[in-house]
Amino acid sequence: MIKRKLLAVSLFALSMGTQLLSAQTHNISVDVKKPGSPIQKTMYGIFFEDINYGADGGLYAEMVKNRSFDFPQSLLGWTTFGNVEVLKDGPFANNPNYVRLSYPGHDAKQTGLDNEGFFGVGVKQNAEYRFSVWARSADGAGSIRIELIDPESNVFASQKLAIDSKEWKKYQLVVKSSKTEAKARLRIFLTSKNAVDMDHVSLFPVDSWKGRENGLRKDLAQALYDLHPGIFRFPGGCIVEGTDLNTRYQWKNSVGPVENRKLNEDRWQYTFSNRFFPDYFQTYGMGFFELFQLSEDIGAEPLPVISCGLSCQFQNWDSKAHVAVNELQPYIQDALDLIEFANGDVTTKWGKLRADMGHPAPFNLKMMAVGNEQWGTLYPERVEPFIKAIRAKYPDFKIIGTSGPSPDGKDFDFGWSEMKRLKADLVDEHYYKDPQWFLANANRYDKYDRKGPKVFAGEYACHPKNRKNNFEAALCEAAFMTGFERNADVVYQCTYAPLFSHIQGWQWKPDLIWFDNLRSVRSVNYYVQQLYGQNVGTNVLTTVENKLPLEGLDGIYASSALDKNKNEIILKIANTSDVVKKASYTFNGLKASERKATQTVLKSDNPDLENTLDNPTAVVPTVKEIAVSGNKLDVELAPKSFSVYVIKL
Ligand code: AHR
Repeated sequence: MIKRKLLAVSLFALSMGTQLLSAQTHNISVDVKKPGSPIQKTMYGIFFEDINYGADGGLYAEMVKNRSFDFPQSLLGWTTFGNVEVLKDGPFANNPNYVRLSYPGHDAKQTGLDNEGFFGVGVKQNAEYRFSVWARSADGAGSIRIELIDPESNVFASQKLAIDSKEWKKYQLVVKSSKTEAKARLRIFLTSKNAVDMDHVSLFPVDSWKGRENGLRKDLAQALYDLHPGIFRFPGGCIVEGTDLNTRYQWKNSVGPVENRKLNEDRWQYTFSNRFFPDYFQTYGMGFFELFQLSEDIGAEPLPVISCGLSCQFQNWDSKAHVAVNELQPYIQDALDLIEFANGDVTTKWGKLRADMGHPAPFNLKMMAVGNEQWGTLYPERVEPFIKAIRAKYPDFKIIGTSGPSPDGKDFDFGWSEMKRLKADLVDEHYYKDPQWFLANANRYDKYDRKGPKVFAGEYACHPKNRKNNFEAALCEAAFMTGFERNADVVYQCTYAPLFSHIQGWQWKPDLIWFDNLRSVRSVNYYVQQLYGQNVGTNVLTTVENKLPLEGLDGIYASSALDKNKNEIILKIANTSDVVKKASYTFNGLKASERKATQTVLKSDNPDLENTLDNPTAVVPTVKEIAVSGNKLDVELAPKSFSVYVIKL
């Protein structure tokens, strides 16, 4: 009998292998009375780039692809029938194409066209959609019919629109969808004998983020807001540089009336031949104005990145592919004008444009990155004149330089030494590395020079072998980020990358938020970012075991912060081991008393688990109230877990 019991106990222990309890208790002391370096409000942020259909087809809520007929193949995304011509003398100089729908030659025939959207047009039952079009009819009496059709060609929404002017004019109507359909098409029929000309054909959900026309997809913008980001880096990434200089991101093309914003190809269209998307363009419908506005909406400092005159160095080895140093003036002027656009008085040229677009108050821009991921001697010689010109006009403005695409090596060291020489305020570092690297580098910033420029970890993500957004990657990021917090005197801001990805249109993974035309899912990695973003604190608290920081000791990574404003202590601790760990915190300098606290835990016993559109809550944080008595807190850390404790003082 006893033997059988023993066998049962040992079988249970085996089956609960991941629940084994470590005999050792980690005695962690936190110095509460000696708040350390301030933690910047900008510390945890987000980085938006139009990759993976992040803008058009993603956050930007426009549902019509090639709405102005100005893609190089002017009818890409459209299917025409009957008598349709493309003409090139439309009302918008930068997007000159438009279509003419004319009588098909027989009453029984039809003229019209339909649009495939971005991997379909996604509509929801009973939701309203705003259709708009610039149109004219030669004799001032034309008409069209708008329909939503499903993949079997069933019509499930329909409305008529009279075109009553010979002059170009904007028309709009609201159509209600009678069903939910992820892969609908927008179809337009000519319903008059008279011809109708159409340009800028557009369809937006009425229920957009903050109800704005030309707005953003609500669920995706809400996901950004919920991260509590301190900083918002945009618009890239490689798209800032362009595959060549012609296709670099030019912010001036992204502002002003939306119909006249000049189309640009998206460099991610053809970056990977196995993920080739010939229909990937940037309409700039969500341009710099909308991106500044979004920063404001989500409470983050805007951080634009501008071209330094280098096209993507991965694809341009010939120095002639870049702007010569003595020809940089227009690029430098773009940088100065951008500051005027964001902050300038409404009487200035660019400040007035901002006001005309609906935002007379300044956006309070404080910093800018010059160049994205540049390296070698080409970079410092180009960034130097930018720094001089910007500092001459705006002495307090912060300039971020780059250290290239790798977190170490010859180019990285050279980049950093040059940024020190040029006195850049911050240096942007990028790293996409495996889980082991992330764990081994949690102490990376302990060794950094405290007197030089500050660090902006502008692009990072843990890449497991299968490049999934799995729990393993998220836990390694959580552990690594304790090193950001512990070193808040040198690390001023960080942004995971990339941010968004369309489930059908991705080029790069892992990504923080995935979506299709109707749904979105927050990855496990998202929840790590959110736990940091929601629990920033104001000052670092020294957190040690036997006088040593916990940066991998026995699989434990920990940091702590004080929030002077909320009067809270925030403890972050990752247990990357396979066993339960006991930790006993002592808060030096804290009076013994009863206190309320919350414990938030993100954990999984399956390292490969990820949140998906069909199972969006596979791994999400769980929160519970706990009580802290005295100046001690004893906790048990589940195997493979990240925990955040917030103690009210
Ligand atoms: O985040 C994806 C890409 O990675 C960025 O565009 C680029 O800066 C980096 O190489």
